[in-house]
Amino acid sequence: MAHEIIVVHGNGTLAGDVHISGAKNSALKLMAASILAQGETIVRNVPLISDIDVMSEVLECLGATVARDEADEHVLLIDTSAVDSFETPYELVSKMRASIAVLGPLIARFGRARVAMPGGCQIGARKIDMHLRGLEALGVSFEIDHGYLKAAAENGLHGASVALDFPSVGATENMLMAAVVAEGETIIGNAAREPEIVDLANMLNEMGAKVRDAGSSIIRVEGVPLESLKPCDHATIGDRIEAGTFLVGGALTGGPVTVRGINPSFLRMAIAKFREMGCTVEEGADFVTVARTEPLRPVEIQTLPHPGFPTDLQAQFMLLAACAEGTSVITENVFENRFMFAAELARMGADIEIEDHHSLVRGGRSLQGAPVSSTDLRAGAALVLAGIVAEGETRVHKINHIDRGYEDYVGKLKALGADVSRELPYHNHRATVFVEADR
Ligand code: UD1
Repeated sequence: MAHEIIVVHGNGTLAGDVHISGAKNSALKLMAASILAQGETIVRNVPLISDIDVMSEVLECLGATVARDEADEHVLLIDTSAVDSFETPYELVSKMRASIAVLGPLIARFGRARVAMPGGCQIGARKIDMHLRGLEALGVSFEIDHGYLKAAAENGLHGASVALDFPSVGATENMLMAAVVAEGETIIGNAAREPEIVDLANMLNEMGAKVRDAGSSIIRVEGVPLESLKPCDHATIGDRIEAGTFLVGGALTGGPVTVRGINPSFLRMAIAKFREMGCTVEEGADFVTVARTEPLRPVEIQTLPHPGFPTDLQAQFMLLAACAEGTSVITENVFENRFMFAAELARMGADIEIEDHHSLVRGGRSLQGAPVSSTDLRAGAALVLAGIVAEGETRVHKINHIDRGYEDYVGKLKALGADVSRELPYHNHRATVFVEADR
């Protein structure tokens, strides 16, 4: 079957309001957390994206039933009463690395887990050593068994004080979801401070857990008995990366673009960079507007764990830098190999030099439409934006990456005035004509 592509005709237009969906990176973990309590958990504001479908399959494999509410398809009903398996197969984990988020909850519920070693985005090594070291401190032992990670807490989970080597989002979440039922107090030092961690901690507390200080570098968890955790009804926070992506669109075209359904405090560093680059930014309780009338100015950006500049907005800002007047320096500190996007943008005429984890972006060249390929989901979204300001037609391939994380990306861009559509690639049209002629 031929895969769809996104075709963009550069009309330089994006203006208006866009509603931001629930955060992918939060919703996935909230779904995993539902394993901790028997019964029906309701998770609201869940985006309609393929990664959520994969996590639904993961939960179904464990014995849960997952359904979208008929009245509102952004509401997920997850019934974990019949969860009786603690094994997650390779076929699912290899599709989405975030499946590893079930490790902590499974150990908490069953005292053991068997989870395939993860695959996922092609952005660097993406190890899980910190997840394992953190869980080991809580009393879990691991062995590798034919590509699977076998975990067991023979003597139950017990609280411990652990400092992570790096504030890993995934390791903090897995530890948190196991620590909620560990006996005694757990202190997670050098914890990740992303808004999605706070969202997860809030949901765990709504279930009956005792988590304090999420959002700071030291998270304290007082363990409670597993049986005391109850299903809850929780709404996912807005997706700061989706919001940031659309705001980059406003900065690129002049906008104004307003993103709604997002707490501006999640986007502090991005907002500061928009201003440095010559944009005007307005913010309210749950919206941000970016507009620009002056030429874009060059910028220096270093990606860092939250509240630093998010690595998931690096590609989008590289595109902005390519359109700025002057030379920008972008440094990637969170992932290895996260500059694959630069080669695709160079196909459209950008001048980008990469050295190790630094990139030098010489702006001011006008972009030309070209056939390009999404290298990961954020790069894919950025390539579509590049097409909007490029001259002529851009054909973005491998858009399954975009579908992993952006709900109705094309529909939302169209509503803002972009000339963009999903189509089948050329060779498929020819195949269709051929079949018809044969008849
Ligand atoms: C999450 C997000 C991802 C985001 C990233 C950083 C999800 C589903 N994904 O990914 O979109 O880009 O946070 O904000 O929430 N590392 C190790 N050992 C470990 C764990 C991590 O070396 O045990 C390294 C990784 O290879 C990477 C860095 O630490 O270089 C950051 O990873 P981490 O914060 O764990 O990101 P994820 O949770 O995978």
